[in-house]
Amino acid sequence: MMKFKITTYGCQMNENDSEKISGMLKNLGHLPVVDEKEADLVILNTCSVRENANDKFFGHLGYFKRLKETNPKMVLCVCGCMMQQESVIMEVKSRHRHVDIIFGTHNIHEFPQLLDQHLEKEEMIVDVWKDGADIVENLPVDHRYPFKAYVSIMHGCNNFCSYCIVPYTRGRERSRKMESIILEVEALAANGCKEVTLLGQNVNSYGDSLEEPATFSELLTRLANVEGLERIRFMTSHPKDLSDDLIRVIAEEKKVCNHVHLPVQSGSSKVLREMNRKYTKEQYLQLVEKIRKEVPEVAITTDIIIGFPGETEDDFEETLDLMRLCSFDLAFTFLYSTRELTPASQREDQVPDDIKHQRMDRLLEVHHEISRAQNEKYLGKIVEVLVEGLSKNNPDRVSGRTETAKLVNFPGDESMVGQIVKVKITDAKTFSLDGTIIE
Ligand code: 5AD
Ligand code: SF4
Repeated sequence: MMKFKITTYGCQMNENDSEKISGMLKNLGHLPVVDEKEADLVILNTCSVRENANDKFFGHLGYFKRLKETNPKMVLCVCGCMMQQESVIMEVKSRHRHVDIIFGTHNIHEFPQLLDQHLEKEEMIVDVWKDGADIVENLPVDHRYPFKAYVSIMHGCNNFCSYCIVPYTRGRERSRKMESIILEVEALAANGCKEVTLLGQNVNSYGDSLEEPATFSELLTRLANVEGLERIRFMTSHPKDLSDDLIRVIAEEKKVCNHVHLPVQSGSSKVLREMNRKYTKEQYLQLVEKIRKEVPEVAITTDIIIGFPGETEDDFEETLDLMRLCSFDLAFTFLYSTRELTPASQREDQVPDDIKHQRMDRLLEVHHEISRAQNEKYLGKIVEVLVEGLSKNNPDRVSGRTETAKLVNFPGDESMVGQIVKVKITDAKTFSLDGTIIE
């Protein structure tokens, strides 16, 4: 029996992979611990989407070098997107010999065997697959919460946005069979799970890679019939593939949450073309208008990249303009980060750091103003909140989310965790709402 600790960097997909690694280890009788100093098996599940995730990982590796000096028996494993890059493996192999096991995004199901191999041979084990084979079903998943769960419905990405490393680290798009997803969600619901979040890099193209044709809206409609399940979330939606049928399903199926995460990346059609996003500013605006018309209560959130190569002041102002026109409920804003292998990294017209930061400050100012205004629309309304836990700073309050993914804080106690309760909104802040529960 080993005591293990998994640290996860990056997106929900990585979180879900870590839940699978944890599920496998628990099934084998190993025990999760909170403090890595107590662990004799440590797994770092890495992200490579932006440079700072890389830096954090290498910083952390240095820390473990010292920790292993006091605990030489500790087994240190690294996995995830960064390990799919040849240059990273080389660096770990040459400069971080204290790492014991390296594996990738395509073979997490093999981890128990790799661990055995390492314990037997006591040498560094490296096993990274270049591309994804068939999806391995039925891995045990150690869900963090009993009442809400991530469910991956597809893996990989075929879009090759010119800045993005994901198609290189997660391979080509592969959808899971609809029946396997439904079985997984039914089992979750039977165990008391109220909310699932369906994960994929581009959920709108779900089914394209399946032998038996299937669409994402069909999948949602089928899942809406699962007994006991109350909410279905999904992310991420690529604007180029969002169908009218999907908008109809969001509008009609009560369980499908009125929330669309719709990354726009830039408000300039020129930049969008160079990003290989396959839509223009105008097409994006029309799509947002259509969604808002069909689903009036919808929350729309987005991702924006600042400082893509060649982004001019005019391009940036178009992004500001689009922010105002779309009234996003929330925007995740990123400074463009050069990723090796990607076409954009070859460009010579990189935007200087000081200009990127200055644009980010201006973008955030507009963004905060808009999210606050969006939140103020909730004042006096009664909303349903799935309570997720006690508030971080105040044990007399709980926090949870509305179906539109708004964070709500209100007086409550532990017994409410995992329940959906009705709350009247009394105060609106930039990133959260306050309220009181109504009996
Ligand atoms: N630089 C900055 N942001 C990026 N993203 C993806 N690649 C990069 C990059 N090279 C952002 C996109 C994407 C989100 C998950 O991460 O906005 O939607
Ligand atoms: Fe990256 Fe574009 Fe695929 Fe999203 S759709 S994972 S941004 S390549």
